Amino acid sequence: MTENTVLQNDFLWGASTSAYQVEGANLEDGKGPSCQDVKTVPEGTSDLTVCADHYHRYKEDIALMAEMGFKAYRFSIAWSRVIPNGTGKVNPKGIEFYSSLIDECIKYGIEPIITLFHFDMPAALDERGSWSNRDSIDWFANYAKTMFENFGDRVKYWLTINEQNMLTMVGPLIGTMVLPENCENPLKEIYTQNHHMLVAQAKAMAICHEILPEAKIGPAPNIGIVYPESCKPEDIIAAQNANALRNWLYLDAYVFGRYNNLVWSWLKSKDALPKVEDGDFDILKSGKPDFIGFNYYSTATAKEWEGEAEEGGALSQQENGGEEGLFKGVHNPYLQKSEFGWEIDPVGFRSTFREIYSRYHLPMIITENGLGAYDTLTEDKKIHDDYRIEYLRKHIEQIKLAAEDGCEIMGYCPWSAIDLISTHEGMVKRYGFIYVDRDEFDLKSMERIPKDSFYWYKKVIASNGEDLD
Ligand code: BG6
Repeated sequence: MTENTVLQNDFLWGASTSAYQVEGANLEDGKGPSCQDVKTVPEGTSDLTVCADHYHRYKEDIALMAEMGFKAYRFSIAWSRVIPNGTGKVNPKGIEFYSSLIDECIKYGIEPIITLFHFDMPAALDERGSWSNRDSIDWFANYAKTMFENFGDRVKYWLTINEQNMLTMVGPLIGTMVLPENCENPLKEIYTQNHHMLVAQAKAMAICHEILPEAKIGPAPNIGIVYPESCKPEDIIAAQNANALRNWLYLDAYVFGRYNNLVWSWLKSKDALPKVEDGDFDILKSGKPDFIGFNYYSTATAKEWEGEAEEGGALSQQENGGEEGLFKGVHNPYLQKSEFGWEIDPVGFRSTFREIYSRYHLPMIITENGLGAYDTLTEDKKIHDDYRIEYLRKHIEQIKLAAEDGCEIMGYCPWSAIDLISTHEGMVKRYGFIYVDRDEFDLKSMERIPKDSFYWYKKVIASNGEDLD
């Protein structure tokens, strides 16, 4: 490792995946179905039965990650693989799988970073009301405790809930939102679910600190600052509203154990305050993160609200039409877009670090960042993904600038270690350093082929971020 680099010498270089998008073996070895296994997948996209078949090929995959020089691998545990019904009986085969996966990482000196919940509620718990059911707080806390007890001897870094803000804002799109039949006040219901998640993850953090004093735990929301479209004062107010709704609601609750006042007032005006019980704020305050993990793909831009309510609403994790009365989402003319329509904003990455750090003063780790693109396998079995290298290079440059700004940054785990199935755009939207030879519906050879970005990232890691050419 190069000495005297901008980034700390123990910087956690790695990459991320999630269980339901990468593992496959979705009902094998006693795994119960999750909401992802019972949802209707978007037309023209693969189902989630095989994915990258990581469940069977993890040894080969981890060996490739080790070849890149990974210091960390962020993956998630499928709750219904270890506790098939979400509560009750533990599945020994599920425990065995993650135990071997962890050991395989450690064998190569790769730090496992475990996400407890990444978009895959056990289907049995969805049938019991999912996050609408107040019991979900204890379901999750007990599941988390079981994971700490089984893997805490080897796992130092834990993440609670992946993109809780997106579960709340675009749940139907990623197949996670369950509302009670004939729900009379959906907004209130959604923010009550969100409240249950806040309390559940705080409980999990407190339990982690109690039983694993050496471990570190944090959240993993999707954070990207929202710019005002202009310096018109009303646009500034709109951007503040959008930031509160998308970003600060979550981080304020995780770190300070309280609700963001702008969001609270808005929910009150809509008769949609979450159902809060006595003692909830004490629980929120009792579970403090050791660091902030966040996923960053882009920023957003907002102006004063105008138009009809139907023109608003979140469209994907990165696109938002706005919220009646609060803000209107607009495109940023200074930014280019990916092939899948997401704006690309490396400089916004730096601003996002600065903003998070100045608000919360906790170390940060990037738990996702990356470019979804159509990759082409050449006849001589190469993938020339210079566009991905360009994207990652520009973002790493901004990490270094943010570190020079005094932001404490612990690591970088872009999306994704290996090709996997996108949340709603199938296999063709690839993110990995490692190509998986399969199509949307044709499983082909499933061979693993390092992309050009694989060799580039290897150099980046070896030089601790100094060699970005
Ligand atoms: C994040 C999720 O929202 O973005 C991942 O945590 C997801 O699960 C990633 O795959 C990229 O989004 P998409 O929709 O392109 O798969």
